[in-house]
Amino acid sequence: MWKSFFLSSVALLGSLVASSQNENPAPVNQLVIVANHAGPVISKDIYGHFSEHLGTCIYGGLWVGTNSKIPNTYGIRNDVLFALREIKVPNLRWPGGCFADTYHWQNGTGPQEKRASIINTHWGGVTEDNSFGTHEFMKLTELLDCDAYINGNVGSGTVREMAEWVEYLTSDAESPMTRLRKENGREEPWKVKYFAIGNENWGCGGNMTADFYSGVMRQYSTYLNNYSGNSLYRVACGPYDYNYAWTETLMKDPDNRSRFQGLSIHYYSLVDGWNNKGSATEFGEREWFQTMNSNLQMDQIIRGHKAIMDRYDPQKTKGLVVDEWGNWFNVEPGTNPGFLYQQNTLRDAITAAIHLNIFNKHADRVQVANLAQMVNVLQSVILTKDDKMVLTPTYHVFRMFRVHQEAKSLNIDLQCEDYVYGEKKIPSLSASASVDNEGRVHISLANLNPNKEITLTCPVIGETYKTVTGEILTAGAMAAFNTFEKPEAVKPVSFKGYKMKDGILTVSLPSKSVVVLELKK
Ligand code: AHR
Repeated sequence: MWKSFFLSSVALLGSLVASSQNENPAPVNQLVIVANHAGPVISKDIYGHFSEHLGTCIYGGLWVGTNSKIPNTYGIRNDVLFALREIKVPNLRWPGGCFADTYHWQNGTGPQEKRASIINTHWGGVTEDNSFGTHEFMKLTELLDCDAYINGNVGSGTVREMAEWVEYLTSDAESPMTRLRKENGREEPWKVKYFAIGNENWGCGGNMTADFYSGVMRQYSTYLNNYSGNSLYRVACGPYDYNYAWTETLMKDPDNRSRFQGLSIHYYSLVDGWNNKGSATEFGEREWFQTMNSNLQMDQIIRGHKAIMDRYDPQKTKGLVVDEWGNWFNVEPGTNPGFLYQQNTLRDAITAAIHLNIFNKHADRVQVANLAQMVNVLQSVILTKDDKMVLTPTYHVFRMFRVHQEAKSLNIDLQCEDYVYGEKKIPSLSASASVDNEGRVHISLANLNPNKEITLTCPVIGETYKTVTGEILTAGAMAAFNTFEKPEAVKPVSFKGYKMKDGILTVSLPSKSVVVLELKK
């Protein structure tokens, strides 16, 4: 019902716009927001993060150990912890990634000096001392007040190993596993919300076919028990980008479907494909455009997988879990190629806004998403160097967008001019909107065009708002970024480029900017 109301409102506004267009041929940029008919809740878990044993994400980035001179809480660095609390991390995925299917959890428990080491074969071939393991990760989630998302080892592990990990973590019954946990210093079981049955099992997680993986997933899932009031949300390994055949295989068989609650997908944005990922900081407009173009594919990819899921699960009982996404550029010159360390510019901020807007709009199916990765790896929110820390432009977007967590999505209709580069074109704007349980509307916008300010007309239908406030993230250069020496080169400031008159909000969006507006009654 609310959808038809929305569509007729949009049609009416469309005709108003068309008549004004005849008088004024300037491109129409319009965002219609129906404020009194809320859609599905935007799961806070769409704003999730990912911390793999890769490069200096865990060791150095999050974990310095209790004996470090860097101020820490139980070995976790305080500066990073405090910054992460500000963005309200809802869930954290660990220990990988490809690393997960090489990880044997029992090597990461017990007295630290007695732990067996592990060679990180996927990422740089470095030897890790396993000082960051299950207890340290669960402590980190407690300190962040977020849910744990643990990725189990299917590729090189066993059913028993995975089943015992879940028992160790979540059971309060008397058993060898729970006794071991207590001996290792933790009396009470933890709660674990998300548990993934392998990672990229079509690739680094065992090079399996979809049919083979389906069988394996069913077997593993059978032994992932719900203990002591804990209810696991089991995530089956899904495909990479447009591999719809994998989703079809996992979804079509009802017995398969009954074994998981969520299906993952991974998609990374690349400038020119895997052979030319481009530099994170040295780029021109061509690379800027290509990145945005690649980012926008996420919408198509989600629509494609959603269509298959809708066919087999029209009640939407299974979630789409986009548990790896982000820009993947070449590593910074002089750094270990296996560590995936890249800088983060205003371009990454726009990327984050595009993705989060897409996830918000697909809130009916996308239940979880995890940026790759949290610290020092790929499109991270934080970079560290020894005792220094810097917040990236991507961090600021997560801070600005946190207002959407657990708010109800609002249906919007966005019409905007194209951003044209050479022969190609993409929409100039990205947007989403939600209403929180105090009735505040939040509108998040990004102007992808690096050359042009865009004036956007936003009729707000159904409710009247008296106050508008806003924040903007932008910079003079497309490749502006924060460094340890200049950590505040790119940071959000208060935004005043709007007018509200007779229920119509007009916003002047500077070129290459991200804006979040709050409307209050
Ligand atoms: O995030 C880096 C890697 O990308 C992950 O380990 C893997 O799952 C993906 O291919």
